[in-house]
Amino acid sequence: MSVNEVLLCYSKMIEQRLDEILQSNSDAPEVLNNAMRYSLLAGGKRLRPAIMLEFYKVLGGDPEDILNFACAVEMIHTYSLIHDDLPCMDDDDMRRGKPSCHIAFGEDIALLAGDSLLTLAFETASDVSDSIDPKNALKAINLLGKAAGMCKMAGGQVLDLQSEGKDISLDEINKIHDGKTVAMIKINAQIACVLFGADKVTYDAACDFCESIGLAFQIRDDILDVIGDEKTLGKPIGSDDSNEKNTYVSLLGLDKSVKIVNDLTNKAISNLDVFENSENLRELAQMLAGRNI
Ligand code: IPE
Ligand code: IPE
Ligand code: MG
Ligand code: MG
Ligand code: MG
Repeated sequence: MSVNEVLLCYSKMIEQRLDEILQSNSDAPEVLNNAMRYSLLAGGKRLRPAIMLEFYKVLGGDPEDILNFACAVEMIHTYSLIHDDLPCMDDDDMRRGKPSCHIAFGEDIALLAGDSLLTLAFETASDVSDSIDPKNALKAINLLGKAAGMCKMAGGQVLDLQSEGKDISLDEINKIHDGKTVAMIKINAQIACVLFGADKVTYDAACDFCESIGLAFQIRDDILDVIGDEKTLGKPIGSDDSNEKNTYVSLLGLDKSVKIVNDLTNKAISNLDVFENSENLRELAQMLAGRNI
């Protein structure tokens, strides 16, 4: 199977489970359930859950056993995108090829759809399959809270907003990217390793891989905000410039940013030596470095 086929296979598994979970919450106000479905099943790349499921498989586990954790990460990611697009944040009208959640449902419902996805994520992750050690599950849920929380994703979003229009250093940009993006990519390696009960060398190598591809991912996102095609990307370009965001591109220019993405990708791949059968992860890293979507 090519890496694209592997990703498609994981996407199908995840989307089917997400659909089932939303259906099982039919008691919720219809508009809320519809708004959550609208954003969650709008066709994202499902990169984060795919990383989790592939690491778990590489370690020797069955991805089905941790599908709820993978769905939980996708729910938190989707909530972060809904809120990221709000007028009080990046004020973007398109997401995943459709009008953003607040354009389709209004700001009030978009806000609450985000809140509900965040809480549904923890409800879903804690609904653990019998094959998982409950102690490991508790540790993984704790790490998920940290990754999404005030010191990482949510905190990074605050730093991102506060830095608009300011001159900041590369170190400060790295801190923003580490919080808002890397944490929710790295968590997939952390959860896969913790749930499998991997040793420290394995855990560290998986985390290092994700730290490098995570930073490369956000730099590529910043590059695509300049050179990307809105239709292909499914979201507006030029958003960073109009919000006076600090990015690798604004600080170092396009050419240097492209080179850094490639260097980070090679660095990421160098961590895969400790794993057998890690070709899909290697190919995934390479594909992400040159992605246009
Ligand atoms: C967008 O993430 C937000 C960033 C952290 C750059 P993705 O590019 O993974 O968005 P989807 O999930 O495919 O829509
Ligand atoms: C968003 O970064 C990161 C999170 C949603 C946590 P961006 O603001 O660059 O993402 P896009 O470009 O809107 O997808
Ligand atoms: Mg943003
Ligand atoms: Mg944005
Ligand atoms: Mg962006």
